[in-house]
Amino acid sequence: MKNAGNHAGAHYPGSSRRNFIEHSFKITVVSGIAGMGLLTGCGHKAAAEEEEISPPEDLMREHGILNRVLLVYDHFLAMLASNQDIPPQPVMDAAGIIHTFIEAYHEKQEEDFLFPRFEKAGKLTDLVQVLRLQHEQGRIITGQLLALARQPRISTDNDKLKLHDLLSAFIRMYRPHEAREDTVLFPALRSIVSKHEFDSLGEDFEKREHQLFGEGGFEEFVDKVAGIEQQLGIYDLAQFTPKPAH
Ligand SMILES: [Fe+2]
Ligand SMILES: [Fe+2]
Repeated sequence: MKNAGNHAGAHYPGSSRRNFIEHSFKITVVSGIAGMGLLTGCGHKAAAEEEEISPPEDLMREHGILNRVLLVYDHFLAMLASNQDIPPQPVMDAAGIIHTFIEAYHEKQEEDFLFPRFEKAGKLTDLVQVLRLQHEQGRIITGQLLALARQPRISTDNDKLKLHDLLSAFIRMYRPHEAREDTVLFPALRSIVSKHEFDSLGEDFEKREHQLFGEGGFEEFVDKVAGIEQQLGIYDLAQFTPKPAH
């Protein structure tokens, strides 16, 4: 998920950022194209597409997927409030995205690459402690949601109440959790690592993402969450615009 343009990496053979030689090669290629752009007027776009995505931007885009699942969870709560039955499959699919993409990948990145650096620097350590604990609690809730969704139906009052409580607890914890990371933790990252380390963190992020999901992991999960939204009738963004007063 390192290219500002989704397919920018595919434009240049050997553009993987796995090592310095390949990286240098790519810079040369891009510079060449940018140079040609002076004549053709299109080089600026090619260079912009090759812009690296910084670690915080990477993580914040992943929070976007988390937010979209929270919207799905909100919708389940609204369905429960109006006494509708909740089909287990979309619950399984939504909690599955949280399990696979957020907990096993995004949060693991924070736990392996970000939190230890803050702890070592003695910065925001109280916050990091809370964030770590919340990841643990989140994983427990997701495990319980998945267990609930493995049933053929979520139909008893007890199950519906349980689903309500798990969804509510998850949403209530994760909105402030991710907002605090976006506004406090991520912006502080540059102040505790060198520019070189900041850049190499981006490389580490990309490597892990490719190991877990191959090319296009982010796009794959955006598509998955969009599919759930479509199934539930909450994909069309315009539906959330307030109607103008007459
Ligand atoms: Fe987190
Ligand atoms: Fe996060």
